[in-house]
This record gives sequence, structure tokens and C-alpha cells, in this order.
Amino acid sequence: MTKQVAVLMGGWSAEREVSLNSGAAVVKALRGLGHSVTAIDVQRDIAQLLTRLFPRPDVVFNALHGRFGEDGCIQGILNILDLPYTHSGLLASALAMDKPSAKKIFAQVGIPIAESVVVGRAALLAGDPLPRPYVVKPANEGSSVGVRIVGAGDNARPFEAESWPYGETVMVERYVPGREITVAVMGDRALGALEIRPRQGFYDYTNKYTDGKADHLMPAPLPPALYAEACRLALLAHQALGCRGVSRADLRYDDTQGEPGRLVMLEVNTQPGMTSLSLVPEIAAHCGIPFPELVEWMIREARCDA
Ligand SMILES: Nc1ncnc2c1ncn2[C@@H]1O[C@H](COP(=O)(O)OP(=O)(O)O)[C@@H](O)[C@H]1O
Ligand SMILES: [Mg+2]
Repeated sequence: MTKQVAVLMGGWSAEREVSLNSGAAVVKALRGLGHSVTAIDVQRDIAQLLTRLFPRPDVVFNALHGRFGEDGCIQGILNILDLPYTHSGLLASALAMDKPSAKKIFAQVGIPIAESVVVGRAALLAGDPLPRPYVVKPANEGSSVGVRIVGAGDNARPFEAESWPYGETVMVERYVPGREITVAVMGDRALGALEIRPRQGFYDYTNKYTDGKADHLMPAPLPPALYAEACRLALLAHQALGCRGVSRADLRYDDTQGEPGRLVMLEVNTQPGMTSLSLVPEIAAHCGIPFPELVEWMIREARCDA
């Protein structure tokens, strides 16, 4: 059945460019499927704009990433406008985006996480809040924006007051050595686990979005029991946060003490990338679900919070 679909993309978060790429890929797929598509670069007048769209959309495809698009804000507007939308609802989005909150929920359901503390600017400028090595991340940005690894041998004072890149508080987390694993979840099913091997450094913004900067190993070459465990943990995390539609869990696999190693959950992305380089489409394709089929499933699952 042909649907009237509004695709939300862009916005003004740190992940604007990624979102424009996701949006473009989704628009192309939806048009190829025969749907009638309106692409919207989201500004602060989005509520008025959606209200005035004619014909009224049957579905909103949310291709936004980051603040306002992934944190429950846009989901709240769409709930109020009674426009069914793809991906998670308001609460799950807000919880997943706020890493300290998400980690509390993971811990409650027995998902292994790395020890962390939330500290203010002054505390981090004054000294190490945790033994090194540790990772500093903004509580609520994605795409590795602002993620900084402080190694044992780094400068004594890794941060300067003048060039402080964060808000008033940050999350400081124990560094988990080992490998980078990501798992795609589609509804009530974990599709599979993929290993990302950055050619150099860690999986930062450049390595994530530049072709050829990281190798993708699908399926992830893990011992079978751990492969299954990574999938179980990702689905459990998706369900514990109350996610809908598609999500993607980022994990570390620490095999530095030998196999079997330990899996550690870093985060759940409720609005994972939908570009041609993106991980969820790659994992889905490996499961025999081509990109257009994935997109069609996503709009079929679209809804507002009950
Ligand atoms: N505790 C950690 N130990 C080791 N590496 C980490 C840790 N936390 C984050 N990283 C690295 O930083 C990347 C981004 O961190 P993540 O928590 O997934 O935040 P986001 O993707 O939202 O920026 C991870 O994919 C991983 O490579
Ligand atoms: Mg991540």
C-alpha cells in the first residue's frame, strides 16, 4: 500500500551531516518502494510545518540523530501531533541517550557494564576521577562526538579549562580493552553481531564515517557461545529500555586475558545510522534483508507511544 511518508533529517545536532546522509538513503528507498515522500530538514518550526503538511503524512520516518532527534524531544512532538513514527518512543529514546541512566537500567537486568562516575568539570580538571586508562564522554551525544580516551601514559593533565569541550558534567568510564562489537536489533530479534576493526586508533568520528577507515567483520569472529551472548544482551538491552523498531547496541569484547573473554555493554543507539556505510543495514543485508525491505518494515512498525 502506498503511504504518505515524511522523512525527518538534518536538524541542528552535532550529527547533522550523518542524519542528512541517512535521510537521503531512506528517501531514495521509500521512493523506490512507491511511497510518496516529503523530505524535511528539521528546524525549530517542525511542529507547525508537520501540522500544515498536505496531505497529512501517514507515517513519519525519523532519520534524525543526536540531540532533539534521538533523545525523546521529537518523539514527544510526534506523540502530541498523533503522527506514527519509526524507532523508539519518548521514554526509551531519552533513557538510551542519557548514558548514565541507560547504564542503571542495564545493571538492573544483569547486563555487564563498565564502572563509571559522573563528574563535574572542576573534578575532571583537578585530577583523575578513576584509575587510568579511562574514557571521558559527554552524557548525551552520539557518533563518538567528544569521546576521549585517557591512556596511562598521557599528559598529567589531559584537560585544560580553556579548551573544555563538554557541558558541566561528563561520564568517566573505565577503559575496556579488546575488540569492538555491534549488534543490530529488529523488533523482537537480534539480527547478528558485527566486529569493527579500526585501521588505527579507536572508533572515533572519522573512523565511523569515512569509507575504508575500519574493517567490518560480519559475522563477528567470536566463539559461538559469546556470539549468542552478544545477541542476547543486545535484545535484552533493547527490551529493558523499552525500545521499538530497530536499535543497535555497542559492546566491547575483552579477550585480552584469553578466550572466552567478557562482553561489556557500552550503549544502545535508538536511531542508528541508515547510510550506505551504516552498520544496521549491513547486518540486515547479511541476514537476507535488503535495505528497502528494512525500510518498509520500519514504516510498517511506526507508531506513537500508547
Ligand atoms: N569504556 C570504554 N572502553 C573502551 N572503549 C570505549 C569505551 N567507551 C567508549 N569507547 C570507544 O568509544 C566509542 C564511542 O563510545 P560510545 O559509548 O559507543 O558512545 P557514542 O557512540 O554515543 O559516541 C566506542 O565505540 C569505543 O570505540
Ligand atoms: Mg557508540
